[in-house]
Amino acid sequence: MTQTGPAALLRRLAQRVEGKAPGPRACRHEIPVTAYSDPARFQRERQRLFRRRPLVLGHASQLPAAGDALVWDWLGLPLITLRDRQGSLATFKNVCRHRGMRLVQEQGCTRLRSLVCPYHQWTYGLDGTLRNIPRQEMFTALDADTLGLAPVATEVRHGLIWVQVEGSLDLDTHLAGLGEDLDAFDLADYHFCEQSVRSVQANWKLIQDAFLDAYHVTRLHKDTVGQFFPDALAESDLIGDHTRSAVARNEIEEAPALADEELDLRRHATFSYTVFPGSVLVFQPDYPAVISLFPQAPDRTLFVHSMLTREPPKSEQERDHFRRSFKLIDEGVFAAEDVFVAVGTQRGIDSGANQALLFGGLEEAAVRFHEIIEREIADV
Ligand code: FES
Ligand SMILES: [Fe+2]
Repeated sequence: MTQTGPAALLRRLAQRVEGKAPGPRACRHEIPVTAYSDPARFQRERQRLFRRRPLVLGHASQLPAAGDALVWDWLGLPLITLRDRQGSLATFKNVCRHRGMRLVQEQGCTRLRSLVCPYHQWTYGLDGTLRNIPRQEMFTALDADTLGLAPVATEVRHGLIWVQVEGSLDLDTHLAGLGEDLDAFDLADYHFCEQSVRSVQANWKLIQDAFLDAYHVTRLHKDTVGQFFPDALAESDLIGDHTRSAVARNEIEEAPALADEELDLRRHATFSYTVFPGSVLVFQPDYPAVISLFPQAPDRTLFVHSMLTREPPKSEQERDHFRRSFKLIDEGVFAAEDVFVAVGTQRGIDSGANQALLFGGLEEAAVRFHEIIEREIADV
């Protein structure tokens, strides 16, 4: 049977170990530095890629119970995603319909019974409907049914919360088949465990570039995870606008002797998915990481990293253990290495030393990612 999807990519890596499949060819591409620094371009990217396309907000298990809410201004407008008493997740503009005050003040996860505006205490239910107006008799021609919170398109699919601020959310078109891969990794069965939100002084694409490049793995990560990988043995495919990448782990040496069904998506390679435009899912051996980037300025990005686990922690001791593995990757690998080079590259770009950044044959997945962005933000 011919394999497709992640299994086929893994087989290709195994064939390369045996010399039965060709590796990438040498090439040279240039990305002009203005792609990472031009303010007008940044506004186009934010508008067209981050407001008019579905984004991964996180894993649905982060908000398991009625009233669980995530308050997030990460796209530059006040939003709240919450679970109602029927169990549905929805996103609203976190803004009162009376005189426009921001409703819930604290950022991040919280639990609510209702949403009460601090200004005049108009009160909204968890489903966004307007429930109470103090001194309502003093308003004429006021129809509470039309004054529910402004909804923002939201859908849960493959365990992830997808949100689109403008336009209608067409997830099937956006996913273009990616869902089958996410199901192959049982993404919906995982549990949210830990999260960090950090502000990074770098263009969002520099962070994506770092996740699309297997060239650096044994080099930049030489003192941490680099030792688990052979040098730049990687394959990638496009799924619609998304990228499926697999970087072979040292265990790939076993693979040529194994039957297709014995190849293991987590043991023989580390798979990652660049979910266009701003997210990355990394299926590491310890835990799957969900990373979502929210561009704030040409040179500033919010980096939101969540850890998922197979089971919720059963004890404080287990929670501590999960926290330690999260910290090891979050701080020791992502912040200290991948984000570190994004920040350093932004400094390099701002120095004027280079007119363009160079990409070779081991970095073509990043070049393809940039080509998709160019197509998406081009004026038609
Ligand atoms: S602005 Fe919210 S109750 Fe008046
Ligand atoms: Fe890396």
